[in-house]
Amino acid sequence: MRPLLFAANWKMHVGPRDAREYLAIFRHAYAPLPERQVWFFPPAVSLEAVVEGLTHREDLLAGAQDIHWEPKGAYTGAISGPLAAQAGARAVLIGHSERRHVFGETDAETGKKVDAALKAELLPVLCVGETLAQREAGETVAVVTRQLAAALENESTALDKVTIAYEPVWAIGTGRNATPKDAAQVHAEIRQWLKARKAGTTRILYGGSVNLKNAADLLAEAELDGVLVGGASLEPAGWAELVRTAAA
Ligand code: PGA
Repeated sequence: MRPLLFAANWKMHVGPRDAREYLAIFRHAYAPLPERQVWFFPPAVSLEAVVEGLTHREDLLAGAQDIHWEPKGAYTGAISGPLAAQAGARAVLIGHSERRHVFGETDAETGKKVDAALKAELLPVLCVGETLAQREAGETVAVVTRQLAAALENESTALDKVTIAYEPVWAIGTGRNATPKDAAQVHAEIRQWLKARKAGTTRILYGGSVNLKNAADLLAEAELDGVLVGGASLEPAGWAELVRTAAA
């Protein structure tokens, strides 16, 4: 069985001081549960504070929201895999829809970043998902498989170390989430794609307006191995309750 993964994407929220307070509350509210992991993706400035706040909790882990594909160099404003790892990150989000659609990140760049993450011994969480126009044009599966191929088809990519997050762009931060059945259908397609490449243990998360009300219904679908949550992860007591009660 794949342990359920609850991933919190804090985006551009929660600085180091707030992160310390957040984790003190969260750790108190959430004791480890079997087969359940919680990964936090704070902004880079808060990584070390989060890592410190997670000590002695094997079920909790910190990751970066993005990395550059080069290990070092003149890239003002960017962080690299080795820098994130030095700050204590053990995972990294790659190709989040905001990176793709706000910052113009390309499929080819996601591939280079996955390789860079693995080289830095970070676990990549590759985000894929279609826009509303693509969904309405019936292109969901084509878009998602194109994104998977571009990011993961390098033969040196260790698929067992990768997690996939399916996040339809139209569901992120909009309050509009895919139905559990819609999500499960796309997850099944992703699973097929992975199986064809002999990757049986890769986890597939769902993301996009997941909250305390809908998480349990989504996770009732056997195809979902966890959730990637933005807004509903920003408040520690609510996030602790979501992790504790979803899929109880
Ligand atoms: P949301 O964000 O939960 O606020 O919709 C999810 C994400 O962007 O990962």
